[in-house]
Amino acid sequence: MGNITFTMIKPEAVAAGNIGAILKMIEGNGFRIVALKKVQLTKNMAGTFYEVHKERPFYGELVDYMSSGPIVAAILEKENAVVDFRALIGATDPAEAEDGTIRKLFAESKSKNAVHGSDSDENAQIEADFHFSAGERF
Ligand code: CMP
Repeated sequence: MGNITFTMIKPEAVAAGNIGAILKMIEGNGFRIVALKKVQLTKNMAGTFYEVHKERPFYGELVDYMSSGPIVAAILEKENAVVDFRALIGATDPAEAEDGTIRKLFAESKSKNAVHGSDSDENAQIEADFHFSAGERF
């Protein structure tokens, strides 16, 4: 048993038909899928999820975008899950992401950047609890 991280496959990657390819990379890199669902966030949910960015200039755009279409949310388990998953997804801006990372392969831009990944163990727990009840985790 490792620790956990939380991810979302964002609306543009879902719309582009990249759910399967991204999940294949996630599993292929040793992450176990503990919980998984496709859901469309309300503006209110997206605003609460990204509340930490409330004062940032891109907050409104981020909330509008993340509630614009369905996303895929997942809890992932692996040793060193948070750090290893951030390495797998690459830099926030795909122009700066390393070759072979999920964002390099699938992201369109800094805001439409294909996937979210938790930035700390504490936030992974908060974000996982935001999306999944105990009965949805296996
Ligand atoms: P994510 O990992 O989901 O966490 C916060 C998100 O804010 C980030 O990915 C980006 O999609 C988005 N973001 C960060 N910086 C900017 C920016 N300068 N302009 C637009 N969106 C941004």
